[in-house]
Amino acid sequence: MMFNKSPMTHLTYHLSMLTDHARVDAYRQAIFDTVRPGDIVLDIGTGTGILSLFACQAGARRVYAIEAGRIIEAARAVCKQNGFDDRVVFMQELSTKVELPERADVLITETIGNFGLEESILGYVRDARQRLLKDDARILPASLALHVVPLEAPQLHAAIESWNQPIAGLDFSSVRPLVVNNPHWVKLDAAWMLGQPAQLCKIELACVTSRDICASTTCTVTKYGTLHGLGGWFSADLDGAGTVVISNAPPTETSWSHAFLPFETPCDMEPGDTIEITLRTVADATVWQWRGTCRRRSAATGATSEVARFNQSSFLGQMMPVGWLRRLSETHCPQLTEQGCIDQFILQMIDGSSSLKEIAQRAAARFPGVFSDPGKALERARLVSQRYA
Ligand SMILES: C[S@@+](CC[C@H](N)C(=O)[O-])C[C@H]1O[C@@H](n2cnc3c(N)ncnc32)[C@H](O)[C@@H]1O
Repeated sequence: MMFNKSPMTHLTYHLSMLTDHARVDAYRQAIFDTVRPGDIVLDIGTGTGILSLFACQAGARRVYAIEAGRIIEAARAVCKQNGFDDRVVFMQELSTKVELPERADVLITETIGNFGLEESILGYVRDARQRLLKDDARILPASLALHVVPLEAPQLHAAIESWNQPIAGLDFSSVRPLVVNNPHWVKLDAAWMLGQPAQLCKIELACVTSRDICASTTCTVTKYGTLHGLGGWFSADLDGAGTVVISNAPPTETSWSHAFLPFETPCDMEPGDTIEITLRTVADATVWQWRGTCRRRSAATGATSEVARFNQSSFLGQMMPVGWLRRLSETHCPQLTEQGCIDQFILQMIDGSSSLKEIAQRAAARFPGVFSDPGKALERARLVSQRYA
């Protein structure tokens, strides 16, 4: 998610989505097929507001347009300009933190990641079902499927291996394990595919209960080549009838990229070889694990033997300070840092009776070593108050 980037970064990102005509047309079609006159609609991640406006055009009585980023200001302006501001209620907040005065008949959301899950759609939809939607609410997209394919991608592999080359006479090879244990977000070329893509799983959003997935499939290799990793993308059935489906499957050009899940060690493959693949994600794809086995059947004996194994995880690719895991343990007793004490001090003074200037003066007096410049104390008081008051 990109809540804190510059305005132009936001606007360029949103324009790329608005000009992805297949995406926009599919959502409009599905919204017109799903929203009925008089419906209450919830739009999670409204962005520039386009899906909320489609819901109004389809007859929604009220639309709750939720957006965590500042792009919501653009959405408000566009909504007014198009004459729908009497029906759309904008809320700048993460959907998991909002409360609505009524439950919605329809949820629309385009929080779909390049490989489906990494924009946290599972957690957001699950939370909305529990707190914000009617029991029989229609959810758009209705389902999300993940697909994988074996890849020969020498350019992507070369970029990983460049960490093994000395740079200015220094050894950077200790970075390679981080690079090879993370998904890479790239545009895949269909010519890199070594076999047919396979569907890993299909998740029905009306009944999903977990933010984790674990799914397996087998791909068959159809040509000679070096297996450098797996490619991944999504398809989403928007209306649940299979008639309005969007996907970023290569070679289709879309506003999404794809996933490349690299292998630690590339492996030579032959037509007929199989790759058993298991993909596991934890907590809305905060962690990705890809593991499996490549096998070959002997033409002479018919026996199948193992050619290679892979087992990688973005858990091993985290750039976390030493000790971070210990600090997450339920037995850990946390203690406030000096910065924590400053925020605690400011928070205690935010009670509706002191101005920011007074709070800053008191903070500067209490923490003179930190706030030798009084302007810094005011800056800090503003930040804390913007966040919590
Ligand atoms: C992929 S964009 C889609 C924007 C717009 N709906 C469209 O179709 O053009 C997703 C937007 O959702 C926002 N977002 C993601 N998760 C959110 C959440 N749980 N609550 C509120 N906003 C969220 C992001 O800031 C981003 O602007």
